[in-house]
Amino acid sequence: MTVDRRSFLAHGIRLAAVAAAAPVVPLARGAAFDTSTDPIAAARDEARWAPIRACYAPSTRFTNVESGYYSPASAPVLDALEHDQRRINALASWYMRREKEGEHEAVRHELARFMQVDAEEVALVRNTTEALNTVLLGLDLDVGDEIVACEQEYGSMLQVLDQRARRDGVVPIVIEQPPLDDDVDAIVAHYAAALTPRTRVLLVSHIYYLTGRILPVAAIAAMARARGVFVVCDGAHAFAHLDLRPGSLGVDAYAASLHKWLGAPLGNGVLWIRKPHIASIWPLFADADVDVRDIRKFEHYGTHPCANVHGIRTALEFHEAIGGAFKEQRLRYLKDCWAKPLQGEPRLRFNVPLTEAGSCALANVAVEDMTGREASAALLERHGVFTVGVRSGVRIAPNLWLTPSDLEPLLEGLRELARERR
Ligand SMILES: Cc1ncc(COP(=O)(O)O)c(C=O)c1O
Repeated sequence: MTVDRRSFLAHGIRLAAVAAAAPVVPLARGAAFDTSTDPIAAARDEARWAPIRACYAPSTRFTNVESGYYSPASAPVLDALEHDQRRINALASWYMRREKEGEHEAVRHELARFMQVDAEEVALVRNTTEALNTVLLGLDLDVGDEIVACEQEYGSMLQVLDQRARRDGVVPIVIEQPPLDDDVDAIVAHYAAALTPRTRVLLVSHIYYLTGRILPVAAIAAMARARGVFVVCDGAHAFAHLDLRPGSLGVDAYAASLHKWLGAPLGNGVLWIRKPHIASIWPLFADADVDVRDIRKFEHYGTHPCANVHGIRTALEFHEAIGGAFKEQRLRYLKDCWAKPLQGEPRLRFNVPLTEAGSCALANVAVEDMTGREASAALLERHGVFTVGVRSGVRIAPNLWLTPSDLEPLLEGLRELARERR
């Protein structure tokens, strides 16, 4: 099933809204969700976001401004998941043997449509970790071949490179991040300077996970691919956060977790690999029954909760009912609500450009003389605001269940820490 129509109605969004041709998305209470309006103006219209906020039931124990690890699924997604769990549980092995494949393929096609890529290049996996391990461990590389990555890449991906170095003699080249501004040429030049004739692979995040910095991935990829380098993009934080389709990035492979900004059920990821490369990448789990050129060879991870996979379709419908551009601008606005007023604070340092090109919802701020953990703990203890302390500062990731007034304790808390004498 794609979505339980009643659950959308019950939670304020009509399924009809998903019809791509409809210029106006009707919401409950007779309000019109007019997608022809300016997304920047719409981001500030609280009435417009109220029915969407009503699709979330965040814990009242704290204000959740840490949606970077895992973003809760919306009520329509949860309803569909529960429905599918019961349906599949009733059918059990029958479902696995006779119905699973068709539904799995339908999800693959929906996801490919959304990503603007060929469905035969899309593997449904469990998370970014699995997707990136598949590529980084699956590429045939020789002793001395180099893989370039920035030190801001996700920690366990740098560990994958380290394992390949110890096991196969591949050489990881880990570079510093480019200077903190939006000069695309300078950023591309920074990455280009790390490439040598031995470079075979470049791993680049679309958004650095610790700080929220957005990278000009398309420009970096164009430069590297022109030199014959295989470019793999970690899209964990960009997917359904930025209104940008992975197919437009011009990379060779792309990985994302769908339980982050898309709000799909926990345990969903995607791996996209350009067709000509599929045959030459080894799967993590052997599957001799599938042709070596078939993307499905990357999906042999054993029996798994299929209802979760179907939840991807509902999450895509929910996302598209809101509109990717509208969601991105709302997320930017929520970041601006707390970050912009703090920009002049002398004891605060933003570890991310607060520009349109430099960041969206995810950001990182450091308080002078405090570790990220200390500042994050103080925000929770004194203001009930849940963030995460990372090595460079406090990582802050608001999401659709929040209003600007929900973010006031965060703003006040950071201001208080910045002005405190230590
Ligand atoms: C940039 C980046 N890559 C990969 C991952 C791993 O994601 P997952 O745990 O869903 O596999 C994360 C998780 O936060 C991440 O931020």
